[in-house]
Amino acid sequence: MTGGLYAVSDLHVSYAENRAVVDGLRPETADDWLIVAGDVGEVFADIERTLRLLRDRFATVVWAPGNHELWTHPNDPVTLRGVARYDALVAMCRELGVLTPEDEYAVWRGDGGPVTVAPLFVLYDYSFRAPGTTTKEESLRVAYDAGVVCTDEMLLHPDPYPDRESWCAARLEATRRRLEATDPALPTVLVSHWPLVRQPTEVLWFPEFAQWCGTDRTADWHVRHRAAVAVYGHLHIPRTTHYDGVRFEEVSLGYPREWRRRGGEPAPMKRIL
Ligand SMILES: [Fe+2]
Ligand SMILES: [Fe+2]
Repeated sequence: MTGGLYAVSDLHVSYAENRAVVDGLRPETADDWLIVAGDVGEVFADIERTLRLLRDRFATVVWAPGNHELWTHPNDPVTLRGVARYDALVAMCRELGVLTPEDEYAVWRGDGGPVTVAPLFVLYDYSFRAPGTTTKEESLRVAYDAGVVCTDEMLLHPDPYPDRESWCAARLEATRRRLEATDPALPTVLVSHWPLVRQPTEVLWFPEFAQWCGTDRTADWHVRHRAAVAVYGHLHIPRTTHYDGVRFEEVSLGYPREWRRRGGEPAPMKRIL
């Protein structure tokens, strides 16, 4: 196998400019894989259309959900909430042949392999609290006072869990067990929409937003689960950093106003291995 392992996230295809960028995403070789690390869009049919297009082009597509896929958006005829919506997204991906966090983890055997490619869905639990606060309630209040509130508060329903942190706790437990069962001889590529460690959120313009960006409980996963690379998005701050010697790749396209500010034609697909 001679292809590359590529990654992208935050395609946000509700924007026509972003749909044009997605139309330009093409593999270099017939063996290339593409990781899609969440926030394809909000409307179920848009997400499906985009993943189908990518699946038709790439040898393998691996998807992890972002918060936008999990929204129950007023413009979406699919009105499922919370776990039921996530399950429907997984079923749609399986129909398309796109790998999800619920499928057996695939092993990349091309350049830089073999590595286990693990898409993760662990959500967040408000432990990345706003500066100077010690509880979720305080942290949320600071965010509301600052006018920096993630739309998840209105549209990302945790049903049947009582709240998003309970859903997160269940996902953490199930995901940890899956990761512990992977082949200990192989390194991993850990793929999560939200960063596994808090440090990437330190450069956010609004520090109050960090509480919607991850959980302290994955802080050592990149070491514990042998990550060669950790792929994430959500922050819309594409860059490469290293924590504990592990490479972290933020691979988001982001909103048109964001990628236009970065200048030039966006080439969001990043080669990971
Ligand atoms: Fe996003
Ligand atoms: Fe996001």
